[in-house]
Amino acid sequence: MLGRVNHIAIAVPDLAAATAVYRDTLGARVSQPQALPEHGVTVVFVELPNTKVELLEPLGEASPIAAFIAKNASGGMHHVCYEVDDIIAARDRLTAGGARVLGDGTPKIGAHGKPVLFLHPKDFQGTLVELEQV
Ligand code: CO
Repeated sequence: MLGRVNHIAIAVPDLAAATAVYRDTLGARVSQPQALPEHGVTVVFVELPNTKVELLEPLGEASPIAAFIAKNASGGMHHVCYEVDDIIAARDRLTAGGARVLGDGTPKIGAHGKPVLFLHPKDFQGTLVELEQV
């Protein structure tokens, strides 16, 4: 069911500072910041040869990563995104097996313009998992 790792997301309190670390200290190619108000984040993509890292900064009062940053003041790994061919089939298989999908289970359009779903971390080794249909 799972394909490639699409991205690893790291929540950060200061996107400009995190961008500087990845660009200047680590020597990676980093995109311009992109505000995604419907997801409550501003995101920067770190382009790597085999995958991407997304740096996420809270945007707005109701940001879904605000509580995470409150608990992890210097930031931290937030989720892993795996690619799937058919997100509805993946959701149905997972929920039939007892896994919990966050929200109402309807895929949303993610940062790359593709349908995404998030799976409950308690069902996946304490890690928030995102599925993206590619
Ligand atoms: Co993501």
